[in-house]
Amino acid sequence: MATSNIAGKVVVITGASSGIGESTARLLADRGAKVVLGARRKDRIDALVRDIRGAGGNAIGFKTDVTQRHQVEELVQGALKEHDRIDVIVNNSGIMPIAPVAALKVEEWDRMIDVNIKGLLYSVAAALPIMQRQKAGHIINTASVAGFKVFAPGGTVYSATKFAVRAITEGLRIELKQDNIRTTMISPGVVATELPESSSDEATRLQLRELYKIAIPVDSIARAIAYVIEQPVEVEIDEIVIRPTVQEF
Ligand SMILES: NC(=O)c1ccc[n+]([C@@H]2O[C@H](COP(=O)([O-])OP(=O)(O)OC[C@H]3O[C@@H](n4cnc5c(N)ncnc54)[C@H](OP(=O)(O)O)[C@@H]3O)[C@@H](O)[C@H]2O)c1
Repeated sequence: MATSNIAGKVVVITGASSGIGESTARLLADRGAKVVLGARRKDRIDALVRDIRGAGGNAIGFKTDVTQRHQVEELVQGALKEHDRIDVIVNNSGIMPIAPVAALKVEEWDRMIDVNIKGLLYSVAAALPIMQRQKAGHIINTASVAGFKVFAPGGTVYSATKFAVRAITEGLRIELKQDNIRTTMISPGVVATELPESSSDEATRLQLRELYKIAIPVDSIARAIAYVIEQPVEVEIDEIVIRPTVQEF
């Protein structure tokens, strides 16, 4: 196991059961971080924890639905109980059930707002008092290129949630600097994960499958997250946008 500025850091990751979160957990654990993993699919979290430990890493897992504030509290308090501190929280949980606005998938709009915005805020609420006490910490939020440009038709509400992540991250940056808490927004383009399959609209799902033919592997994003964490404490990487070289949107 390689040592780095990441070694020994306690890193909480939401949405760690697949895709970017899972890949980030594996990479950071491999570099010596103590990872604390949450998502709803506890069987996948358990399997990931076993894998990381089997490779000599340090990991614990929780069943965490980020729309349930008490479960997010349990995740963060679980990390604190085990390790006595939290160095980084990666707010990565997200869903992208997209469809034209006129399809009126109002329940999906609600879910996106609940997971992508409110879930992230619940994580901030859980971790912030601990980081303020420590006078140190790092909040990393996963946004999207759809947080810079409206992904319409189809992704209008998804984009709205990621624009919100951008506003929240910038607001946190301004408000938390006196507490020595770093903030970073990671904005991926098309990355090969299960995300596009979460659309219930058949036509949209087919379009997304076309778009995702150019997807880059998940570890491209994990490496960027490792890079921002490993900077010296006085260096804050505020934003990273990562796209496939050939992606236009
Ligand atoms: N893939 C891309 O092209 C892309 C591009 C831009 C941004 N992103 C962002 O990257 C992040 C990770 O997505 P991904 O691409 O890795 O997709 P993914 O493989 O579908 O992962 C999404 C993760 O979010 C978790 N999640 C969903 N609902 C949740 C809830 N209610 N509570 C807790 N966790 C929940 C899922 O776990 P459970 O289902 O087990 O709860 C899963 O671990 C998302 O914020 C996404 O918007 C992805």
